[in-house]
Amino acid sequence: MRQFIEKLPKAELHIHIEGSLEPELMFEIGARNGIELPYASVEALRQAYEFSDLQSFLDIYYQGARVLLHEQDFYDLTWAYLNRAKAQNILHTEIFFDPQTHTDRGVPMERVITGIHRALKDAERQLGISSRLILCFLRHLSADEAMETLEQALPFRDWITAVGLDSSEVGHPPEKFARVFDRARKEGFLTVAHAGEEGPPEYIWQALKLLGAKRIDHGVRCMEDPILVETLRSAQIPLTVCPLSNVKLRVFASMADHSLKRLLEAGLCVTVNSDDPAYFGGYLSENYLATQQALDLTYEQIGRLARNGFVASFLNQDQKQQLLKKLETYLSEAVPK
Ligand code: ADE
Ligand code: ZN
Repeated sequence: MRQFIEKLPKAELHIHIEGSLEPELMFEIGARNGIELPYASVEALRQAYEFSDLQSFLDIYYQGARVLLHEQDFYDLTWAYLNRAKAQNILHTEIFFDPQTHTDRGVPMERVITGIHRALKDAERQLGISSRLILCFLRHLSADEAMETLEQALPFRDWITAVGLDSSEVGHPPEKFARVFDRARKEGFLTVAHAGEEGPPEYIWQALKLLGAKRIDHGVRCMEDPILVETLRSAQIPLTVCPLSNVKLRVFASMADHSLKRLLEAGLCVTVNSDDPAYFGGYLSENYLATQQALDLTYEQIGRLARNGFVASFLNQDQKQQLLKKLETYLSEAVPK
């Protein structure tokens, strides 16, 4: 099963590029930029990765991102992730970035976005990985600041497919950003939102109704509302579920308690993703494997999850069909009869 999952052609739809910053690279970039980290070593930093909830993680995650200053830093960060993606046979990836984490420190939007974009283009040519970029607003900041961020991003609109919403969920409902998302949709962006990670099902309803979200990031708390589950099922609104993240941030007490299998069996369009792999102990294959083992997922269910990843992507129909064909060829050869 391990080999089956590692070689499985996959799509990833929920990865914060700042959350792929491994301690080694954080120290390397910090050293060249003269930014001191409050940890003596890579090992000491890794040991600090014990989280009690989303906020306890975000505090460390924003601190880590402080080393990123130059266009090359954003390139190196993205390139390192893409090489890991290649090694795990990720054929397509949709990457979140948090511009406000950087612009609030005086790093211009252009530097952030150009570094990331350049790595994505190189990966397309050199690694054969296609990608989309999703700009996330930090929901703990104001709606006015989100609007300003959207305006700063407009010159780069051709490089950005969608906007999203992340950071501290509880107390920052999607409705706070309804106007910003209206404007984003008028400007031609698709929309997604983190909802129902720690927040209640009501936030998922708001993401759908007020933000026009095409996918819900996490969404695992939808199970508390049967009408919501039926709405997500009948419209096949994808959930980008991040199993290792949910256990690390204590959304579920253990992987055996995770709702992924129940969501799948309820007919929802569930996908598997890594969220912040450098912090949560695994990239995409590790997320598939940990859930498969804890929940005893069948080959058929793993195949379905992988299929959903391509179906739920923002690729056009032709591109989806091409990648789905690769997946089906693999499944027809690799699934034990
Ligand atoms: N930013 C990075 N990872 C996140 C998560 N899992 N939830 C909300 N915001 C995030
Ligand atoms: Zn996330």
